[in-house]
Amino acid sequence: MRSKIAGIGYYVPEKVVTNDDLSKVMDTTDEWIQERTGIQQRRYGKKHQETTTTMAAAAARIACERAGIQPEDIDFIVFATLSPDYYFPGCGVLLQRELGITQREAGALDIRNQCSGFVYALSIADQFVRTGTYKNVLVVGSEMHSMGLDFSTRGRNVTVIFGDGAGAAIVQPSDDPNRGILATKLHSDGTYAEKLAFINPGAHGGYHFNKMGEATDFGFPPEDTYGEIFITPRMIETGQYYPNMEGQFVFKLAVQKFPEVIHEALKEAGLQASDINMLIPHQANLRISQFVQKILGLRDDQVWNNIQRYGNTTAASVPIALCEAWEAGKIKEGDLVCLAAFGSGFTWGSALIRW
Ligand code: ACO
Repeated sequence: MRSKIAGIGYYVPEKVVTNDDLSKVMDTTDEWIQERTGIQQRRYGKKHQETTTTMAAAAARIACERAGIQPEDIDFIVFATLSPDYYFPGCGVLLQRELGITQREAGALDIRNQCSGFVYALSIADQFVRTGTYKNVLVVGSEMHSMGLDFSTRGRNVTVIFGDGAGAAIVQPSDDPNRGILATKLHSDGTYAEKLAFINPGAHGGYHFNKMGEATDFGFPPEDTYGEIFITPRMIETGQYYPNMEGQFVFKLAVQKFPEVIHEALKEAGLQASDINMLIPHQANLRISQFVQKILGLRDDQVWNNIQRYGNTTAASVPIALCEAWEAGKIKEGDLVCLAAFGSGFTWGSALIRW
């Protein structure tokens, strides 16, 4: 049995924030941002009104409607985000409550795989559906980055990249064995976990020793006491509660891993890059997507890019782009669609879908 995407939806908040808007609060320029990333603007959710969960619910309702089901028909939720409403519990159960479907007591699972979160989530849904465990799995990627970014010049290399939004899909059994999810490939390598990370607050307590005995100093002294080292005044004073990224390091790995994992899925399905009708790359940086397009030999109309309008929405970027491409009529029945993502962890993955 195969699984298929029976309905998709996305939601982006109304508020548009341009590069010029950012240049008013930090030392950056529209020219720098566009040249390095392709981003022209991004959306920010309404502070104290919208959250990662409420945006996810908006996208999920559209996906349900398009799949011809009611939210109460959902058997299982897989929620991918790096910007959850709470440290715990995860957004999966919050979404269940937001959709008003707690009576059903369906399962909810949270995925912490950052940019590749949606591809991982889709793969999990695929396994559940193919094994006959569930009939309607809601897969969501949603991010409210704007609440957790450093809007001073110190944070400019990260802050200008990210935006808010949500995308959702309903995964169901496919009645046609030739249509649906053909292959998913997932990978990770934790060697460089701190190269792109949001480290504080955390349970590392100041120092973390890796298995080689090397200490990673997170910028505050180790202490013998428990509790108060989770969030320290020093962490707040030095602003060490924001994401950090070694951009060039990430870039170099991304351009290598994207093509690799796409080829791996194609090989498993007995297909070639030239068979792809639409590539939906995670919207990390327009330059990365253009590089991948070139390596795969695809035309401009075979790759969907929307980073110009939304920035990098991490776990939401793939489903938003997929939904936009579908709504624009660029994905038709029988088309071969390829999803691919790479990000923090590092984790990366791909999915091939016969639409
Ligand atoms: N505005 C102006 N100048 C800036 C800005 C900014 N917003 N940000 C950094 N700079 C400066 C730096 O300080 C540096 O100045 P210096 O030369 O005087 O030291 C200079 O610009 C170059 O900085 P780099 O970081 O080397 O710039 P780079 O060309 O690498 O571009 C970028 C940075 C856009 C982040 C790029 O490296 C990139 O896109 N990397 C990949 C990101 C990615 O794919 N992330 C994965 C997904 S995210 C996730 O998983 C959560």
